[in-house]
Amino acid sequence: ATDPLRVLVTGAAGQIGYALVPMIARGAMLGPDQPVIIHMLDIDPAAEALKGVRMELIDAAFPLLKGVVATTDAAEACTGVNIAVMVGGFPRKEGMERKDVMSKNVSIYKAQASALEKHAAADCKVLVVANPANTNALILKEFAPSIPEKNITCLTRLDHNRALGQISERLNVHVGDVKNVIIWGNHSSTQYPDVNHATVTTSSGKKPVRELINDDNWLKTEFITTVQQRGAAIIKARKLSSALSAASSACDHIRDWVLGTPKERWVSMGVYSDGSYGIQPGLIYSFPVTCEKGEWSIVQGLKIDEFSRAKLDATAQELMEEKQLAYLCLN
Ligand code: NAI
Repeated sequence: ATDPLRVLVTGAAGQIGYALVPMIARGAMLGPDQPVIIHMLDIDPAAEALKGVRMELIDAAFPLLKGVVATTDAAEACTGVNIAVMVGGFPRKEGMERKDVMSKNVSIYKAQASALEKHAAADCKVLVVANPANTNALILKEFAPSIPEKNITCLTRLDHNRALGQISERLNVHVGDVKNVIIWGNHSSTQYPDVNHATVTTSSGKKPVRELINDDNWLKTEFITTVQQRGAAIIKARKLSSALSAASSACDHIRDWVLGTPKERWVSMGVYSDGSYGIQPGLIYSFPVTCEKGEWSIVQGLKIDEFSRAKLDATAQELMEEKQLAYLCLN
């Protein structure tokens, strides 16, 4: 039998946590043959709620679930984990300055970086979901120098899936037939959803999205803003931020990273930049990637037109500013 993998979910008593842990226990993240032990971390005010989630996980009697650790102690939560999904963070509340939110999250991610570095499995793969996701991941990377930088990523797969969804709705095709959209940059409203390389499988073969949607104006305006603003639209409708789609996308991110991306299909992941496409090295930036044998690599050689270039640079600029702000908060 396969040994169980240990999966950490921080902020596990929150909304995304509640949607995510049953998905992991059902095999949506690591496959239907991989047993798991779920480690859940939250903070003291949520300790009771966390106990409740633990009870429900036990009550659901998941065959793949070999154990549950529920704790408010970061060291205990991080011990031996193979996968860490960092959902816990400090949310922006009304009237709060950007700097105050950044400051809270920087101190959380600095502390949790140390806990992971000391206690996680040496090859632990990290996915940061909590906002500001790219910059939280950057702080985690800086303060966990013994974790390979290739192992620290952030979630832009939700934005990627949203882009696939918008194309599929517009063309009235199944979402599974649309592929190779790209989310570039920050998981924020400056992200650039790019369809220039995307295709649709049709009954008469593979067609570029740009040929099927012969409406440059829609693709350059409404499509982009709909994807960028989708999070806000969900908050408006639900009075709560996206949770089931965030959880599902987090499973997609880890599953493709660990088990590999399908042939001829790439996905978007926030990963550290090696300078590809002229993006400043060291930023955590969302790129198109393919994954094989547990490693991602940035898809190279895509043609970037002038419109796209400006968008790639604008979102990089925002990330550099966030990085500066984060460093100010450290002092
Ligand atoms: P939530 O507020 O329902 O849950 C957050 C949980 O984190 C709470 O239970 C809280 O007690 C816990 N927490 C706070 N500080 C912690 C710490 N230091 N250690 C461990 N746990 C801690 O929020 P929700 O809706 O689950 O969202 C979580 C995060 O994910 C937010 O930052 C949100 O902005 C972000 N998000 C990111 C998305 C992405 O695509 N990257 C999509 C949707 C949400």
